[in-house]
Amino acid sequence: MSAIDVVVMAAGKGTRMKSQRPKVLHRLAGRPLLAHVLDSAAALQARSAVVVTGHGAIEVEAFCADWASAQATKGLQIALRTVRQEPQLGTGHAVQQAAPALPDDGVTLVLNGDVPLVRPGTLRRLLSLAGEHSIALLTVDTGEDAGAYGRIVRGAAEGNGDIPVRAIVEAKDASADQRAITEWYSGVIAAPTRLLKKYLALLTDDNAQKEFYLTDVVKHAVADGTPVLALQIDDDVEVAGVNSPVQLAELERALQQRHALRLMEAGVRLVDPARFDLRGTLQCGQDVEIDVGCIFEGDVTLADGVRIGAHCVIANATLAAGAVIHPFTHIDGGQDGVTVGAGALVGPFARLRPGAQLGPDVHIGNFVEVKNSTLAAGAKANHLAYLGDATVGERVNYGAGSITANYDGANKHRTVIEADVHVGSNCVLVAPLTLGAGGTVGGGSTITKSTPPGALSVARGKQISVADWQRPVKQKK
Ligand code: UD1
Ligand code: MG
Repeated sequence: MSAIDVVVMAAGKGTRMKSQRPKVLHRLAGRPLLAHVLDSAAALQARSAVVVTGHGAIEVEAFCADWASAQATKGLQIALRTVRQEPQLGTGHAVQQAAPALPDDGVTLVLNGDVPLVRPGTLRRLLSLAGEHSIALLTVDTGEDAGAYGRIVRGAAEGNGDIPVRAIVEAKDASADQRAITEWYSGVIAAPTRLLKKYLALLTDDNAQKEFYLTDVVKHAVADGTPVLALQIDDDVEVAGVNSPVQLAELERALQQRHALRLMEAGVRLVDPARFDLRGTLQCGQDVEIDVGCIFEGDVTLADGVRIGAHCVIANATLAAGAVIHPFTHIDGGQDGVTVGAGALVGPFARLRPGAQLGPDVHIGNFVEVKNSTLAAGAKANHLAYLGDATVGERVNYGAGSITANYDGANKHRTVIEADVHVGSNCVLVAPLTLGAGGTVGGGSTITKSTPPGALSVARGKQISVADWQRPVKQKK
């Protein structure tokens, strides 16, 4: 098959979004619409992609540069370019701007920047339908009124049963008969580039909208004897466009429903698939259970038997077998990631930040924050505590209200708590320091120096008791 070059039309204004942000940068499942479209191009192993920009061009081009560098770090080879379309004179005019960047020997696939969910498998079928000599359109027929979409006008049936496409007529230009046609054009077209360029050069703007319609390529192809074939699908979610916040939210739900079904088919138990959100990738082992209202972001892995309580937000984290996350816990691994060991218990209301590495059977309880710290097997911090830049040994018990004072106002320092240490409640551990193995720190201590193994260390005002103390009484005026 010929090399694939993709054109993504993304110059339109998106007036109905009523937003300062360019439409194609609005987020679906946590990623810009345009990212979904470019990901599909990458999945097809396209040779190149040309994004046509116009409204909000600077922001869209900046996003494209970010996307391209992220692809490069993944080792994927797709040459991404942007071209400006100014002014925007229609979809045909948009593709005309991209045409000089398209090599003649390939096949061009045109995608809409605001149609994010078309499946790579569907696009592959469309490309093979186009082949080297035909034009292929992705169309939809749900049997209902086709609204503002372009109507697919077909000719008489041929001997082999095919009913060839004759034209696409925009709703605004359609006769009453044409308007009654329920098969509509999705905005996705594949054509041998050499032919596409030939027909693009013939476009005019003598129509209801005074625009250069890409859809008119069809009538020029038909006049030239080039076969125009349609790949008709019935899943309108695949080709749904985003024009308004309502449509964006509808598509978000449809996509989340897809994610939820896929996970449940793989055995994951979602208490309610309608209350589940995935904004990235989620890998699950066997017997994973997820309660309602959870959001997963970035790359998350849940091993066998992991249970996630209600209303947790979990990003960039790896949870080992049997870990249990109680409700309202926030885990954000950021760049460094978070790991939770086998059988560990976290939450409710816990917060794990980048670089938190919990070993097996660690317990992190309510209102405990852990950042850039390693906790070895069986360590516990059950209430109201902070561990930052700390190395915590096995079986350490870290008391309620205790914190590592890891920041001196300029630099961060490490706190090392060796195995089997007990830190009492309300302690301040002023880093850098090491608490020796098996030692105990008395509650309320502010520890500024390292402590020896096995010792009891106390650093607080000595308690005194004044006998028969008389409390002051209120004076009479
Ligand atoms: C287009 C099709 C219509 C189809 C529908 C499917 C044409 C003439 N009509 O209509 O048959 O049913 O898509 O969604 O193609 N864009 C540019 N530059 C422009 C104009 C548009 O880049 O000058 C981009 C937009 O940003 C958008 C895409 O092209 O991503 C489609 O444009 P839009 O105005 O939404 O086309 P429709 O009128 O919906
Ligand atoms: Mg549109």
